[in-house]
Amino acid sequence: MIVLLGANGHIGQGFSRELRGRGETFIPLTQEGLDFSRFEVLFDYLRRVKPDLLINAASYPAFPPEGGCELEGIETLRPEPVSPQTVAKACLLTKTPWAHVASGSVYSGAKIFDNAKLRIITDVTRPEVLSAYAAHPDNFLGFTEKDAPNFKPQNGQAAALNLGATQDTAYIWRFRMTFSEDWEPWNLLWQLHHASHVHDAINSVSHLGDCVRACLDLWERRAPYGVYNVTNPGPVTHQQILSELHRTAKPRPRGRCPIGSEIVQPLSPPVRSNCILDVSKLLWAGVKIRPAMEALRHALKHAPKTRATNITRVVFSK
Ligand SMILES: NC(=O)c1ccc[n+]([C@@H]2O[C@H](COP(=O)([O-])OP(=O)(O)OC[C@H]3O[C@@H](n4cnc5c(N)ncnc54)[C@H](OP(=O)(O)O)[C@@H]3O)[C@@H](O)[C@H]2O)c1
Repeated sequence: MIVLLGANGHIGQGFSRELRGRGETFIPLTQEGLDFSRFEVLFDYLRRVKPDLLINAASYPAFPPEGGCELEGIETLRPEPVSPQTVAKACLLTKTPWAHVASGSVYSGAKIFDNAKLRIITDVTRPEVLSAYAAHPDNFLGFTEKDAPNFKPQNGQAAALNLGATQDTAYIWRFRMTFSEDWEPWNLLWQLHHASHVHDAINSVSHLGDCVRACLDLWERRAPYGVYNVTNPGPVTHQQILSELHRTAKPRPRGRCPIGSEIVQPLSPPVRSNCILDVSKLLWAGVKIRPAMEALRHALKHAPKTRATNITRVVFSK
């Protein structure tokens, strides 16, 4: 039996759906039902219930969204997050295997083959980098789980970063900007559709359904514990997504990426994480997952036809 923390959150809901679909017995916990942010409460609960796995999708809400956009006209008040350290300690002491849904936004940039050498570029929003990617996408590689983070984590992701080293019965599942068929503000496709300004960038992205499936497959296959980048293979640019939106969406998206000479050279270093993650470890574990572009096209095809919103403005910042 599985215990799911943060079952009301959008990633938590993704896990609930998939677990239900698999006919898996699980207990979806919300903070209303049990104050699991308190160590003694969670510790007692785990001692009594003895789950086979705890999934923590509750700790550090990714809102404002991971995609680096700002939404105006939406409530962003948030409760204090659940500390992953509290969950880690309760799981360690009760010998409960567990998984922490974390963020891959701890890197900035990508690795690029240049003159037969692999080097790191830290800003994948720069025009010359975007042009190089358009010309030779295969020259671009992502950060692996072994690479040290090079981007200051937001909120409390720093705490989650150290978990992998201290836990030998834990998965750290690193998602990135999520999208799906659901037409809601947390969805990257929704955000780009409603954006009035979009800065182009190269990114790894996570289809919610595919990625929760991949995580549960890791668990079912009894893949070794540790950190896993969980995104669809193959990076995409905001420009590519916008082109798909322009091709398929009605009404048409509000904004577009500046192109060619319209691109203003960024003056400051990136304030958001834009990065490529390497998912070889996930694939080597035997997990099957669609390429990002295929998942994006599928999501757009199956998104609801009515795409109304009361959000006043979305700005995709660098
Ligand atoms: N969203 C993304 O695109 C994305 C991408 C990469 C990584 N992630 C990671 O995925 C995890 C979940 O993100 P999310 O986007 O699903 O967040 P979310 O929609 O805001 O949901 C977070 C859930 O955590 C629960 N929670 C927050 N503080 C709590 C507290 N003090 N006590 C108990 N429960 C609490 C809330 O539960 P209640 O509903 O019961 O209040 C909420 O449902 C985060 O670690 C985030 O960094 C998200």
